[in-house]
Amino acid sequence: MKDSNFLKENNARHMWHPMGAPGDALKNAPTIITKAEGVRIFDIDGHATVDAVGGLWNVNIGYSNDAVKRAISDQLERLPYYSAFMGTSNDVAIELSYALSEFFAPDGMTRSFFTSGGSDSVETRLRLSRQYHRLRGEPTRTKFLSLKKGYHGTHFGGASVNGNARFRTAYEPLLAGCFHLPAPYTYRNPFDETDPDRLAEKIAAVMVDEIEFQDPRTIAAFIMEPILGAGGVIVPGARFMPLMREICDRYGILLISDEVITGFGRTGDWTGARHWGVKPDLMSTAKGITSGYFPLGAVMIAGRVAEVFEKDETGQAAIFHGYTYSAHPVGAAAATVCVAEMQRQKLNENAAARGRELHDGLKALAAKYDIIGDVRGGHGLMAGIEIVSDRAKKTPMDIATMKRIHKATYEAGTMVRLVGHTIVMSPPLILTSDDVGTILASLETGLAAA
Ligand SMILES: Cc1ncc(COP(=O)(O)O)c(C=O)c1O
Repeated sequence: MKDSNFLKENNARHMWHPMGAPGDALKNAPTIITKAEGVRIFDIDGHATVDAVGGLWNVNIGYSNDAVKRAISDQLERLPYYSAFMGTSNDVAIELSYALSEFFAPDGMTRSFFTSGGSDSVETRLRLSRQYHRLRGEPTRTKFLSLKKGYHGTHFGGASVNGNARFRTAYEPLLAGCFHLPAPYTYRNPFDETDPDRLAEKIAAVMVDEIEFQDPRTIAAFIMEPILGAGGVIVPGARFMPLMREICDRYGILLISDEVITGFGRTGDWTGARHWGVKPDLMSTAKGITSGYFPLGAVMIAGRVAEVFEKDETGQAAIFHGYTYSAHPVGAAAATVCVAEMQRQKLNENAAARGRELHDGLKALAAKYDIIGDVRGGHGLMAGIEIVSDRAKKTPMDIATMKRIHKATYEAGTMVRLVGHTIVMSPPLILTSDDVGTILASLETGLAAA
């Protein structure tokens, strides 16, 4: 390994970073992380912080789970790779698909299709939903509905259903036939509606109007995150997702739950949809499935959808889609142990309890600091605070101040993430009450530096 001077000097010189301008990275060197333990990360200068980002919403079991590390190294010794295309399989992927069908049984999911990550999972389920309708004799159902502020990865299909211009504009034109509804975002919405249930009804009315306008027979699926993550942690009211389910059922539209963040305990329940008492038709998962120890994703398929493919008599049910790394044996070994570890440690329950503490602490900070315009979360370990320069006018805080808050918070002992003028948090689900205290104390130092 090169020494730290070499690494600092070459930091962004030869590597372009996702989600940032190459020129910016040259001017403002990215923080170099070299080590991690438990819920803490260490930078190249040895500064330790609680990782309230949890890697990238994904390190649910923390950084030091030996069982998952051992499963990966053992699998590398036994079978580092084999393809699951056309007539071959591997033992660990079979075991994982069995474990996932048990894990997701309460959500009605019976089958898995493995991918290399979240964007791959999103792309897969968009394709499967079109093929599903074709097999059922409704090939005109090709369009997708989704939510503004929703994030569904970066492939062309995912970017097309994404609801944030930042991820779209430079790459347009995107996939035709994708339409976006207002987000269940009580702090800012076109109706100036602050009551979550009334907002849900208003969005439902827009949805029905859009479906009727498009012609229900042209719509394949509606896609949503049970709690919107990258859009700034937007938590819908309890009525929202069940209402979306009702409308999808009424019009024969598939409901896809994007569980890339919310799956595997993050919301305080094992899946986000379960948290709202909804059974989707398809789910996309990734991230927490291996806690980031190995890149892997899975699309979960409900029994009633799977049946249409499995009992097909049209000869068109072959899935001509997949990835070289679909059902990767090392990823499968990591995921099988990781899912078991999360269940053994009841990380959903810890996420719920620590999430409540974090939410209460953030509300207490909001009572002290006027620059906190909105506090969001309270359902597991997903939290967001929207920072404003004028609380009455809800004026978004300028980026220079946001960067100052971020830096001071980091120096005080916690890594958080900025999504525009919102600070988002998704720490490992093994977090303790003491760690919650560290996050809140660091944030307070950061806010004081605004
Ligand atoms: C809800 C959601 N869907 C899809 C993705 C894309 O996942 P990946 O970055 O693994 O491709 C993300 C990533 O954050 C996500 O939050």
